[in-house]
Amino acid sequence: MNEKQIMEWLREEDVKKLETLWQKANETRIAHVGDAVHLRGLIEISNICVRRCGYCGISADNRQIERYRMTEEEILECAHKAVGFGYGTVVMQAGEDYGVTRDWMVGIIRRIKAETPLAVTLSLGERPEEDLIAWRKAGADRYLIRFETSNRELYDRIHPPLGDHPSDRFEILQNLKKLGYEAGSGVMIGIPGQTYVDLACDILAFRKLDLDMIGVGPFIPHPETPLGQCLPEASANQVPNTEQMTYKVIALTRLVCPEANIPSTTALASLNKADGRELGLMRGANIVMPNLTPTQYRVMYEIYPNKACINETSEACASCLSMRILNIGRTVGSGQGGRLKRSSC
Ligand code: 5AD
Ligand code: FES
Repeated sequence: MNEKQIMEWLREEDVKKLETLWQKANETRIAHVGDAVHLRGLIEISNICVRRCGYCGISADNRQIERYRMTEEEILECAHKAVGFGYGTVVMQAGEDYGVTRDWMVGIIRRIKAETPLAVTLSLGERPEEDLIAWRKAGADRYLIRFETSNRELYDRIHPPLGDHPSDRFEILQNLKKLGYEAGSGVMIGIPGQTYVDLACDILAFRKLDLDMIGVGPFIPHPETPLGQCLPEASANQVPNTEQMTYKVIALTRLVCPEANIPSTTALASLNKADGRELGLMRGANIVMPNLTPTQYRVMYEIYPNKACINETSEACASCLSMRILNIGRTVGSGQGGRLKRSSC
């Protein structure tokens, strides 16, 4: 699929035609990754962050929230719960928190690998290469870092640099692959200033980067952030931050990268709590990420408002998601659920 064809789908409004897009994406998903939905347990280990991303509710500039960092024992307890719930992977995510030190993480990764059969995914921001090397050596399998938008000018506008170090997430992703990580990335949909051309280029960038995991979700304005203050301009070129646009991007991503692991994301579920996750799974996605974070910390990890599962327990999310998966005729994946084969997407 080329840029023009992707653009046409992104602008398509005809419900019948869109039905064919959902169908094609679903068939491609069945052919390449099958019916299993893999569960990745998400542990939000710290909401402390040195960055000031214009959209993010846990940005260093937000003084309204209480900050936390989980203890090693709390994190290990979550990992053991993940095993009990039948998950194959834990994802440890945090703001860019240098209190999460290289050595502390090495100890935690080693313990999880020694005490459980879990795959370990990290999502800890733009960390120095030495950290990434040490964590890979300790046994981390995957790393997630979204590039958010492939439009460099828009990227720079919403990501103030840290000191004089320019941020280049494409370079980071290449480096992660070189270090032997499975690399995951993705974008937000409907960022103020994001055009249809930008979004089509994002989807083509997924293919070019040959990503193992691709997570996309709607931009949700957070009132305590600069981007939460200004409503996106309703121009003909502005991508809307809607549920419908999110399904289009999930479906097109499946068509362009048939073998990738694609989550039906929490941001999507937050727009449609009734069946957003299910519709994502029926339109190309094959992964869900149940939240494992202890309930008392969840409210402090509101990167956007109205986030799904804020008041639920890990147990509630585990049974809720298995039920949702079975209800749409899919199976719960067993094992780590990594990338199936390494052919170009
Ligand atoms: N709306 C939607 N998604 C957001 N993220 C951060 N802030 C928001 C927001 N306001 C997404 C970013 C980030 C991921 C962890 O969460 O894409 O990479
Ligand atoms: Fe958390 Fe449904 S996944 S309550």
